[in-house]
This record gives sequence, C-alpha cells and structure tokens, in this order.
Amino acid sequence: MHLWKFLTASLLASVATSVCTATTVSGKYYDRIVIVVLENQDYKDCIADPYFSKIAEKHNGVVLSNFFALTHPSQPNYVGLISGSFDGIDADNDSDVDRKSIVDLLEAKGISWKAYQEAYPGGCYTGTKSGTYRRKHNPFISFTNISGNSTRCANIVPATQLDTDISKNAVPQFVFYTPNMNNDGHDTTLEYSSDWFKGWLEPRVDNPAFNNNTLFILTWDEDKTYSIPNQILTVLFGPAVNRSASTDNTKYDLYSILKSVEENWDLGNLGEADVDAVPLIVKD
Ligand SMILES: *[C@@H]1O[C@H](CO)[C@@H](O)[C@H](O)[C@H]1NC(C)=O
Ligand SMILES: *[C@@H]1O[C@H](CO)[C@@H](O)[C@H](O)[C@H]1NC(C)=O
Ligand SMILES: *[C@@H]1O[C@H](CO)[C@@H](O)[C@H](O)[C@H]1NC(C)=O
Ligand SMILES: *[C@@H]1O[C@H](CO)[C@@H](O)[C@H](O)[C@H]1NC(C)=O
Ligand SMILES: *[C@@H]1O[C@H](CO)[C@@H](O)[C@H](O)[C@H]1NC(C)=O
Repeated sequence: MHLWKFLTASLLASVATSVCTATTVSGKYYDRIVIVVLENQDYKDCIADPYFSKIAEKHNGVVLSNFFALTHPSQPNYVGLISGSFDGIDADNDSDVDRKSIVDLLEAKGISWKAYQEAYPGGCYTGTKSGTYRRKHNPFISFTNISGNSTRCANIVPATQLDTDISKNAVPQFVFYTPNMNNDGHDTTLEYSSDWFKGWLEPRVDNPAFNNNTLFILTWDEDKTYSIPNQILTVLFGPAVNRSASTDNTKYDLYSILKSVEENWDLGNLGEADVDAVPLIVKD
C-alpha cells in the first residue's frame, strides 16, 4: 500500500478506536453501577411477589429488608437519590434545582454516565410529560447545570439507546434507568411491573457488555400506603455480586445508594445527607 494510504488508514483506525473505547475508571468494588427505579409499592407486597422476591437468589444478590424511601410523593425521592437533598421540592411539579448532583462528582473523575428514560422524546426535552414519560421521574432534568448544558443534557437518552449501547459494548459506568408509567407500576399493578422487569432484565443480565464488574440495584421511589412507614424493597444483584448472605437487615435509605456510588469511585460527597448516610454493604 502507498505510504499516504497507509497513514490515512492508520489515522482513521486510531480515531475509530479512540471514539469507541471510553476509558473505564476502576471502582473499589465495581466498575459499573446500574440503578432501576420502580414506583409506589409497599415492601410487604414486593417481597411476596414471585419474581421480585427471587431476583437476589437467582442473580447472586441480596435483599435489603430494612430499607426506606425519603418522603412522599415521587419527585423528591428521585432528586434526593442523586443529590442528597430534596430541599425545596415537596411536590411532583416541574422543578429547577441549582445544586450539585452525582453528575458533578462523576464527571470530575471522568466516569461516564447516562440516564435512560423510557418514552423520553430526547433533545433535552424539559416538558412535564410526553406519552408515558414523566419529568418527575427523571431527576437529572431538574438540575439546571444539566438541563442548561447541551453536552450534559445529551446524556439523558430515550431508553431504547440501552440496547444500542450494549451491542457496542459502550454502556456507561453509571446507569440510571427509569421505566415508563406502565412498566414502573405507577399506572398499572405490581404484577405488571414484575412481568415487565423480568422481561427487561433476563435477556440482558447475562451479557458481559452489561454485567461486567457491575452492581445492579433495583429499588422503588416510595411505598404505596402513605400511612405506614415508607419501607420499600431494594435488591442488589448481578453475576459480579456473588453474596453469601441472601438478606441484609441493616437500616438503609435512598441516600445509602448515593453514598455507595460515591464510595465506589472515591468521589467525595455533596455536603448533603450523603455525608452521614449509611453506605450499602456491596461486597462480602
Ligand atoms: C410546586 O408546587 C409547590 C407547592 O407544592 C409550590 O410551592 C412551588 O412553587 C411549585 N413549583 C413550581 C415550579 O410551580
Ligand atoms: C453545577 O451547579 C452547582 C450549583 O450551582 C455547582 O456547584 C457546580 O459546580 C455546577 N457544575 C458545573 C460543572 O458547572
Ligand atoms: C457543560 O458540560 C460539559 C460536560 O460536563 C463541561 O465540560 C462544560 O464545561 C459545561 N459547560 C458549561 C458552560 O458549564
Ligand atoms: C470486563 O472487564 C475487564 C476488566 O476491566 C476487561 O479486561 C474486559 O475487557 C471487560 N469485558 C467486557 C466484555 O467489557
Ligand atoms: C463467590 O463467593 C464465594 C465465597 O462466598 C467464593 O468462594 C467464590 O470464589 C466467589 N466467586 C466469584 C466468581 O467471585
């Protein structure tokens, strides 16, 4: 081959390589954390569900049997989960928060992230709803330095992007997945969300492009019965998890998830409730 052709070919190859291979920042325990949030179920009902109750057993995981949401209704729980505070947010209406979130900490360490939102129209859509998408379940769009920055905003994607990312072995290190209003159980039933989750998880969880050194966390935003303590089911699982205990009765809450993400990559903290939160025991 002529020299110029060779040089052009090598240049193109190296560009292609650098575009496709995002650097992995090794975590203390895991290299990827995948969080899926479902809606409005009491702990006692989830733990009686034939599929939700068996995920830990089936996928090397552990049931967190003493885990609490933060408040009611939905939105403050989602915002708190990624920022350590729901200060100023006491409802499900469109909120704009000028505070730091987990995204600031992840980006400072070069850790890739995406928020996969089912039925999200894309294009930095800031509307309240579109089809079965709801802004109140997409906390990322409520942070002004995500919504107001097109580079960051582009990491909020329609959930259909996940299979594309898996097929390219390009799933980011921090994954937040919000199902639509039917799949998350909000407008349907516990059984519906259980069937959906099974159909979503089972074909993907054994794929190394998704599960490699990955901690999967399934949780709920809040319980259904507001008059009882706000206990929800949370399950940690995945082929890399390999827990010996099947149940962990430590008292945790949604801030524990945030704290564990921070600890996993030594991110520091946001100076909010994450500082004193009890981190999840993520490995034996
Ligand atoms: C959202 O609702 C609360 C009352 O629950 C109100 O104080 C707040 O101003 C509302 N925010 C917006 C952006 O409408
Ligand atoms: C995002 O906003 C928060 C609050 O104003 C600020 O502390 C943080 O530095 C901002 N991040 C970036 C990357 O601008
Ligand atoms: C927007 O976000 C990108 C990626 O985090 C960051 O590099 C850039 O500085 C931000 N732009 C502004 C104006 O804050
Ligand atoms: C899994 O992670 C290891 C260690 O980081 C890496 O060498 C390997 O290529 C990864 N496999 C896949 C499928 O990403
Ligand atoms: C899983 O854990 C057991 C001990 O609990 C250990 O013997 C085994 O090597 C672990 N397997 C993997 C794949 O880490």
